[in-house]
Amino acid sequence: MSVGGRLKRRDFIKGGAALAAAGSLPLSVVELAFANDETTDFSFAFISDSHITHIKGREFVRNFDRGLIRAVAETNLLHPRPDFVIYGGDIAQLGTAAEIDHGLDILGGLRGDVHYVMGEHDYYLDLGEHWERRLGPQHYSFDHKGVHFVVLNSILTHDAWTHGPWDSPMARMNEMARLDNPDGSPFMVGETQRAWLKRDLEQVYCDTPIVVLSHSPLQKIYRGWNFWTEDAEAVQTLLAPFRKVTVLYGHVHQIQYNQIGNISFHAAMATAWPWPYPESYSQQASHLPRLTVPMNRADPFFERDATGWQFVNLHTGNIDVHYQLPDNSPRVVAFDTARGHPVDRHHQDPAHRLPTQDHY
Ligand SMILES: [Fe+2]
Ligand SMILES: [Fe+2]
Repeated sequence: MSVGGRLKRRDFIKGGAALAAAGSLPLSVVELAFANDETTDFSFAFISDSHITHIKGREFVRNFDRGLIRAVAETNLLHPRPDFVIYGGDIAQLGTAAEIDHGLDILGGLRGDVHYVMGEHDYYLDLGEHWERRLGPQHYSFDHKGVHFVVLNSILTHDAWTHGPWDSPMARMNEMARLDNPDGSPFMVGETQRAWLKRDLEQVYCDTPIVVLSHSPLQKIYRGWNFWTEDAEAVQTLLAPFRKVTVLYGHVHQIQYNQIGNISFHAAMATAWPWPYPESYSQQASHLPRLTVPMNRADPFFERDATGWQFVNLHTGNIDVHYQLPDNSPRVVAFDTARGHPVDRHHQDPAHRLPTQDHY
């Protein structure tokens, strides 16, 4: 009935039907037992990295407010309406209650449910206390129309660093907020959460599509900027038995996509600002997933260029990401069934790449 101890949905449907006929299953399980083998298609919006920045009193950096306000307004205009919204982390810049509350005030304008992911900028001031008070647990899972969603806090690090000899919680926050910081510490999901994930996934059929939401990439791209998760391979191993797995993440503020084994990866744009690609800094081409066609910044002197948000279609368990880039060309990165990985619908072929524009 099961493969490697893991349930297959088809087996359950057979067994479930017999049990349901006997009237011995709770209602929710009966519904699942009779579920169609195909996942129902649906869409959701994906907003990330607003970095709401407090100045003083009631003043916040207006540019970052506007990025989030615009994403919320455009999401509310989507038709058909998305089933829910994912927020990919880094609501705040320095994790203060004022920043998180102000960001949540703006996000409160969204219609429908929002599922939140923890970012390091939300976490390292009070170790997620205020975030959790406002939003609930830092990791959790839920099911929607035949898809299993898992939300992880992937920005944890070694206890010795977290509880190190900091002069103040803000000193720790400032260290983690910096890129390329030799005194920083790598992100990880950690043993406790991985044990939870293992138990969570044991309840899921291996042909159920899985979507994992994290803040850092659950893959290793560039350690210096924490475009990296230290225990990525261990998390990928837990996801290996499943047929269709997608990881959606924030943090990198740029278009990235990749395929590792059975797992498709997609990054979100920030509503606040775009990061350059690490290879432009490290001068090593390896610091970008090979599949990724980089974003094209039309105007490097315009700070809103290459910011944006995304809407996501979940089609028979695979995902296509529509990048909404108000001041740049829109992009669509979709799973290509024939090739078995995500591709940019218009620009994957080198002959169709957008040349980098310059303004000199
Ligand atoms: Fe960020
Ligand atoms: Fe981040």
